Amino acid sequence: MKATAIANANIALVKYWGKRNADLILPHNGSVSMTCDGLQTRTTVEFAPEYSQDVLVINDEEMRKDEKDIMGHMERIRKMAGLKEHAKMVSETNFPIAAGLASSASGLAALTLAATKASGLSLGERELTILTRMGSGSACRSIVEGFAEWRRGEKEDGSDSYAETIAPKSHWPDFRIIATILTEKKKAVGSRAGMAQTVKTCPYYKEWLSTVNEDIRSVKKGIQERDFTLVGETAEFNCLKMHATMMTTKPPIVYWIPETLDVIHWTRAMRESGTPCYFTIDGGPQVKVMCLEKDLKSLDKELNTLDSVLKTVVCRPGDGAVLTDRHIF
Ligand code: PMV
Repeated sequence: MKATAIANANIALVKYWGKRNADLILPHNGSVSMTCDGLQTRTTVEFAPEYSQDVLVINDEEMRKDEKDIMGHMERIRKMAGLKEHAKMVSETNFPIAAGLASSASGLAALTLAATKASGLSLGERELTILTRMGSGSACRSIVEGFAEWRRGEKEDGSDSYAETIAPKSHWPDFRIIATILTEKKKAVGSRAGMAQTVKTCPYYKEWLSTVNEDIRSVKKGIQERDFTLVGETAEFNCLKMHATMMTTKPPIVYWIPETLDVIHWTRAMRESGTPCYFTIDGGPQVKVMCLEKDLKSLDKELNTLDSVLKTVVCRPGDGAVLTDRHIF
């Protein structure tokens, strides 16, 4: 009753921000992302009678706070599988967690795949994305390969709110995202609390929602046609609109730090001087710079010379979640 899975983080090109059902994690809007090969979590799960409670260890540290309700997620999986045993879960990431690099997405995706396998469940990809979504919304996109869409869905039971690949990684192998790490501090407001507060108090939240479907159409068209300008312009504007809703909640949520603004302005200056690149930012301070392979070397080198940038991680379109025999324990 032991299994190990590897999953990549994903970075949204059209963001998910806000739940219409917090128990099932059903979003107010659909979203589109790229699964990133450079930001990885490996998780081993074992169910055994000797464990008197569920234990979760991430990067050698036992987790005591359970912001993402991981224990609730394990209970759900145990129920589905008809198991009584508790589990030991050990995760390793190759990037800092909880700093806006979508660590919860790769973590929950790897955990869900490993836990279902260890518990004897055998789910198809769509069912796996639905179950993963109930653990952490954006994680459902990390189950699938390449460019992914998480469909909002209409049904109240969430059965049509799943993620699927809209283009495999081989469709656009030149697309790159340079994730900058500007601080290794944990962020102050988690996405769960942040989005709930936004839905409740942001006067512009309805306006945000009224523009997202058009962004999804444009980004999907851009991906299909490998139109970098269309994807970059749409993704950058979508990110700014999301941050505008965050900043106008009560109390305001400002994820940006001075270094964030430095990289925003740097990206715009590079673009104005003729190198196509665009930025996107999630619920944290780190900036992700989208570019094409032909400009990667020069942009990455320049970024690493900025005082604001501690380091960068380059991501290309990556694989969905997979099982492996390389157990951590
Ligand atoms: O799924 P969560 O709770 O980690 O929320 C993710 C929210 C954003 O990263 C800001 C946007 C997104 O679509 O990934």
